[in-house]
Amino acid sequence: MNKLYYINTYGCQMNVHESEKIAGILRECGYSEAATEEEADLIVFNTCCIRDTAEKKIFGNIGDVKKYKKNNPSLIVAVVGCMSQQSGYSEKIKKSYPFVNIVLGTSNLPELAEAVKNVESKLNKSFISVPCNERPQIKEDIPVYRTSGTNAWVNIMYGCDNFCSYCIVPYVRGRERSRDIENITDEIKSLLDEGYKEITLLGQNVDSYRFENFRFVDILERIARIEGKFRVRFMSSHPKDFNSEVIDVIRSCPNICNNIHLPVQSGSDRILSLMNRRYTRAQYLDIISEIREKIPDCGITTDIMTGFPTETEEDFADTLDLVKKVGFSNAFTFVYSPRKGTVAAEMEQLPSEVKKRRITELVNLQNEITKRLSLDYIGKTEEVLVEDRHPKLKNHYCGRTDSGRLVNFSGECAIGEFVKVKVTSSKSASLWGEYDG
Ligand code: SAH
Ligand code: SF4
Ligand code: F3S
Repeated sequence: MNKLYYINTYGCQMNVHESEKIAGILRECGYSEAATEEEADLIVFNTCCIRDTAEKKIFGNIGDVKKYKKNNPSLIVAVVGCMSQQSGYSEKIKKSYPFVNIVLGTSNLPELAEAVKNVESKLNKSFISVPCNERPQIKEDIPVYRTSGTNAWVNIMYGCDNFCSYCIVPYVRGRERSRDIENITDEIKSLLDEGYKEITLLGQNVDSYRFENFRFVDILERIARIEGKFRVRFMSSHPKDFNSEVIDVIRSCPNICNNIHLPVQSGSDRILSLMNRRYTRAQYLDIISEIREKIPDCGITTDIMTGFPTETEEDFADTLDLVKKVGFSNAFTFVYSPRKGTVAAEMEQLPSEVKKRRITELVNLQNEITKRLSLDYIGKTEEVLVEDRHPKLKNHYCGRTDSGRLVNFSGECAIGEFVKVKVTSSKSASLWGEYDG
């Protein structure tokens, strides 16, 4: 009988793509995808530990699968990814949930095949391997089973050396490693041959890509020059490394989307310094002015945190003010969450009511801005990559503008096509329109 896998993915795009690698490995082990967790013979938790809320939710969800073991005693449960990589966590996971069979760290995912075979043959009922190699070799030959529609994720680098004082990522993902530019280019060429229409380059800080003498601008330019009709996106950028050259390449290459994700985190210089972000509010605003001047229709998105230790009302007012000044098309907003082992976790923490009040105020402000900016699209005709059929409406499709806005529209077209859409109305963040050729 066919063996079935089910993958629960948490966290960022890096993890979403890693789950495609997990699926690739499991398919090579003879598994195929289960429609539900309940019918699976192997359940994988690809975990995140960026905030406490993420971790608590995952712990709860792992506990929930114990019930399936009763009906299916040979069910294999695997926990991989950032949460397992934290110091002491493999023991913590095994202690809380003895039924977990496999625990792997972030750098040794390719061992999943061996782990599964081991557990299946009952050689070892559990397989725990979380090495602390800070600079593991990049493994190029992992099979990938893509599930991202018209878009394909492509790693250009791994790890992070920035050590922002609140962030766990450098501890669980190790030091920065960049992929060979030839391997990246070859992968992208074959993805385009397979029919993918959008390539999203992934890295914790894509601007610090470095392979031999090649920098991020070089790779961007090289990819943009590959023949064919397709789009290039990338994430995330770091304001301390983002530069004029990148802006110029985006402007001069029509297939690099006018869409930049530039996490600001705070609008207060005092907080930015405590966060170890290594740029000032003025420097950030200068980058925004340069983007606006050179690429007027660029969609700029960001990440912002409220409630970092010692954040005063004045610091928070600076954040609100920056948000108003920039006019982000969208912002991912988070309540600061202390992460064990990071510098900020040792500082005096703010009461949770303060953090919550501030996040609500920030979210309300950003929603208003997003809604207002949506109105600017009405009456315009935008090029949209058709990503999918609308989940509910007949003869409706959805896709994204070059600037990254979601558009729902009526008309007849095919998924993967680039079409013109006339925007007729908007609902806060999403746009609505009609096929226009
Ligand atoms: N490498 C990317 C993203 C890292 S994680 C970057 O530097 O932009 C994504 C976002 O999670 C961060 O931008 C930050 O806003 C948020 N984040 C990270 N650590 C956090 C913490 N301890 N509490 C709350 N939010 C956090
Ligand atoms: Fe975390 Fe900062 Fe690295 Fe982003 S740049 S992953 S926020 S340490
Ligand atoms: Fe989470 Fe790891 Fe991404 S901690 S945000 S899954 S790099």
